[in-house]
Amino acid sequence: MAEDRNEEEKEIEENHTETKDPEENKAETKDAEDKHTEVKDAERNTESKETEEKSTESKKAEDNNKADKGAESADPLIRFENVGKIYHTGQIVYEALHDVNLEVMEGELVVILGPSGAGKSTLLNLLGGLDGATSGKIYFGGEDITSFDDRRLGKFRAVDVGIVFQFYNLVPTLTAYENVDLMRDLGLKIMDPIKALDMVGLADRKDNFPSQLSGGQQQRISIARAIAKMPRLLLCDEPTGALDTKTGKEVLKILQDQSRIHKKTVVMVTHNALFADIADKVVMVKNGTVEDVVIVKEPKDAEELNW
Ligand SMILES: Nc1ncnc2c1ncn2[C@@H]1O[C@H](COP(=O)(O)OP(=O)(O)OP(=O)(O)O)[C@@H](O)[C@H]1O
Ligand SMILES: [Mg+2]
Repeated sequence: MAEDRNEEEKEIEENHTETKDPEENKAETKDAEDKHTEVKDAERNTESKETEEKSTESKKAEDNNKADKGAESADPLIRFENVGKIYHTGQIVYEALHDVNLEVMEGELVVILGPSGAGKSTLLNLLGGLDGATSGKIYFGGEDITSFDDRRLGKFRAVDVGIVFQFYNLVPTLTAYENVDLMRDLGLKIMDPIKALDMVGLADRKDNFPSQLSGGQQQRISIARAIAKMPRLLLCDEPTGALDTKTGKEVLKILQDQSRIHKKTVVMVTHNALFADIADKVVMVKNGTVEDVVIVKEPKDAEELNW
């Protein structure tokens, strides 16, 4: 699979090694985090000449992606081996996850389903290195991220992971453009924010503040912010949870396109079982473990969904 990634991606990976040490900007990052609570990490970015929306290239990428998904021999981008997570709150010990085994292929759109409290968000946090596992191993691109020290884990989060939350987490005093450009303020290299905004169809709203945008538009801005740094992994926790069906579908389409066209690995947590239809893989989480994994042979287009 790795050899199928395009030159641009390879260039980005090379640039990753040139990014500054996350610790170097610690003070700056701390300030920014204080100001911008939604930015959980000193995310570090990469130079990007973002993909032009050439239909022929998109088609080619989509075809490659389909072929990759059918290749049984490909190594997974992510592999969980007997992963457990225990939270300690005072005297209380809570086992949020146990015996989690899971594989995610590069370019896959994965939907994680399960009841409230099942451990979905915990699983997503471990996937993105936002939290550490208590037991087991988590491999990303063949590397055991559970063995990373804080600095290396911070770099992993910054370079490889983009996150979209349910409630957008935009900075109200910044415009759409500035919210995307925020990543640069954190010392990261990102693509031209206009290109990121264009990918979510909102370049013309670049000067609007969040309060001047609908919920769906705000979520699209937050997706633009996450993809601006070209992460290999895009994690979304209930990204349509606060949206109506029409705007929710627009958001799902953007996320599905990130997988199908831009070959990003997208993992989405949702309560909505209907979203299973658009996934390449559905992961059912129950009582703190993965109860079932279903490969969807012919996922629906996001536009076809109705709920
Ligand atoms: N930081 C924490 N400290 C202690 N317990 C926690 C912590 N985070 C999560 N938990 C517990 O772990 C369990 C799983 O939580 P998690 O947030 O992963 O569930 P979820 O499946 O995402 O639920 P929901 O659908 O309601 O968002 C819950 O019982 C929760 O209370
Ligand atoms: Mg949750």
